[in-house]
Amino acid sequence: MKNIGIFIGNFNPIHLGHTSFLKNIKKEYSLDTIFLIPIENKNEENLNHIPIKEKRELCQLAIKNLEFIKLYPENFKENEDTLKFLNDIKNKEKDCNLFLVVGPFSLAELEKNNDIEKILKLAKIITLAPLKLFEKLTKKFKSFIIKPSKLKPIQSRKLRILIAQKKEFSTYLNNNVFEQIKKHKLFFGKESLFLECYDICRQNTSKKRFSHCNFVAKAAAELAAIYGEDEMDAKIAGLMHDLMKEKTKEYMQNIFNSYNFKLNDAQKINPKVWHGIVGALYLENVLEIDNKKIINAVKYHTVPRKHMSNFEKIVFMADRISQDRKYKDVQFLRDLSKKNIDDAVLYSLKNTISSLIKKESTISTPTIECYNTLILKKTENLKENENK
Ligand SMILES: [Fe+2]
Ligand SMILES: [Fe+2]
Repeated sequence: MKNIGIFIGNFNPIHLGHTSFLKNIKKEYSLDTIFLIPIENKNEENLNHIPIKEKRELCQLAIKNLEFIKLYPENFKENEDTLKFLNDIKNKEKDCNLFLVVGPFSLAELEKNNDIEKILKLAKIITLAPLKLFEKLTKKFKSFIIKPSKLKPIQSRKLRILIAQKKEFSTYLNNNVFEQIKKHKLFFGKESLFLECYDICRQNTSKKRFSHCNFVAKAAAELAAIYGEDEMDAKIAGLMHDLMKEKTKEYMQNIFNSYNFKLNDAQKINPKVWHGIVGALYLENVLEIDNKKIINAVKYHTVPRKHMSNFEKIVFMADRISQDRKYKDVQFLRDLSKKNIDDAVLYSLKNTISSLIKKESTISTPTIECYNTLILKKTENLKENENK
């Protein structure tokens, strides 16, 4: 009886992680053929997916010299019934043992829909699930699930972020796939990076927070256009500024420890401002975004610093004037931000400082330094104008 593997995946794009994993499981489970079945995503605008035609072309190039892997003639539509799809294959292939290969997201999805038990009657499952989910499932389904591969889960997202930033990405891809991606500029550019960030932000924030982040992104892009900064960078920074806002204190402390970040005394006593720093650490180290402008704008959106760049001021103000903000002088501040960003930051700082004084709270040194820098700049400008 033939052993047939079915690998339904996003393959967005297919990389060496996929193919080396398939080589391993072919050996381990004596598979005769593995069908590669790319998922055809719905036309969701805000996801960084290449069209199914391109996906299939890349898959074809990647498996050119791997005869045991075949591109399945049909695509798997997003939200399609896996069970029905497997049944069809089983009927077509007649006498065979089926092995369903699933990544962490698909497995979680199958678990949510209570499909695993039914699938296990048809096929064995080879999974790349993270340990936690895997343990939960093996407990639930006892001996059914085959152990996951020792390989690390594949991270296509990371690869796409590398490509978007034009970093070195050839080592992760088959040569022909690499050339094709380069030739057609697939996943290239800031738009692509924005779409990845959009998805990450959506997955890590509540509906309300996500909506706030989007409003801030919009406001930041508008201000960037006025002040001659890169609109897409501003959009990304605005979107990601509160990525860590809803994380627990413990989570944030872990990030500080992981990247050896030492909080100063003022920061230590004020966990409310941590999310900016944690967000910046995450962007730089986990997502490996190397645009310092974006990283610093996220870092200093809670507490400013002595010499804020124009870009940092833009994101700082965008957070305060976004469409969802509703406080007394918000409209005044919106207009002021468009006219003079320094005056807007100064006005905003004055409000913050006076409310901290009223509450008898401490005021961080960088906040005062930023205030002083802006006041000095303003005085100098006034003098200059008088002398003209
Ligand atoms: Fe924030
Ligand atoms: Fe915010």
